[in-house]
Amino acid sequence: MTSEYVLTEIKNGVLVITINRPDKLNALNRQTIEELHETLVEAENEKDIRAIIITGSGNKSFVAGADISEFAAFSIEQGKQLSSTGHFKIFNFIENYSKPVIAAVNGFALGGGLELAMACHLRVASDNAKMGFPEVSLGVIPGYGGTQRLAQLVGKGKAFEMIVTADMINAPDAFKWGLINHVTTQEELLNKCFEITAKISTKSPTAVKTAIKVINAGYNTQLNGYEVEIEEFGKSFGTTDFKEGVKAFLEKRKANFKGN
Ligand code: COA
Repeated sequence: MTSEYVLTEIKNGVLVITINRPDKLNALNRQTIEELHETLVEAENEKDIRAIIITGSGNKSFVAGADISEFAAFSIEQGKQLSSTGHFKIFNFIENYSKPVIAAVNGFALGGGLELAMACHLRVASDNAKMGFPEVSLGVIPGYGGTQRLAQLVGKGKAFEMIVTADMINAPDAFKWGLINHVTTQEELLNKCFEITAKISTKSPTAVKTAIKVINAGYNTQLNGYEVEIEEFGKSFGTTDFKEGVKAFLEKRKANFKGN
């Protein structure tokens, strides 16, 4: 698929995805959501891709939200559809992705942009980044998982404050609140992400995938995270990666994981 708004580059087994609509501050329109979904689907089957980094084009914005011009005249039903398609194609999809996804937040992460960052497994932001939920200023609420994931990351009190005031917060505050994992300069942003992916790439892809699944299970009200953990912990013993990991330890060498 040719992508107009999604650029990709593979570097050391890491797929860097750049949302590329800089003249609209990388706002997520329907086409961008489709392209991002297709890119993620393809990358999931690529064994050599061990992790994903998502960032925004330019040095001003990560993603400034859903494209307001596209939903300006929506009906109730269309609004519901917009939200559920987004959950399915991007936000839940990324959260449950089998490889770690890191958001490199390089500027404004507003509304759907912050929801995109929060759906990722880790967030690194540059010191110019501004994060917030402007939705109530427009008469709507966050509809891509923001009402749920924000409280999971920063607690209910801060989530209420951010969403009902629509105030933006800066990167140091976001770090203090636990919304992001690291803050760097703009120049160092991708390097910091690569530093993290380099560590992940030496680990067992099977175990990393399972860890993502089990951590998420604890936030799924239909599941008991502890039971899922017991099940998946047991299954690990049947993997080739486990045999290789233990063998390598006993032989005092680096493991050569195959991801199965
Ligand atoms: N949807 C559609 N277009 C958007 C957008 C969005 N979420 N965010 C920014 N843009 C567009 C602007 O309309 C403008 O386009 P134009 O040049 O064709 O008029 C362009 O991106 C640049 O934005 P601009 O507002 O001129 O930049 P700024 O530096 O003055 O302000 C923001 C930056 C982020 C504060 C401002 O763009 C903004 O408030 N954006 C909306 C954020 C939002 O409400 N997101 C949640 C949506 S649910």
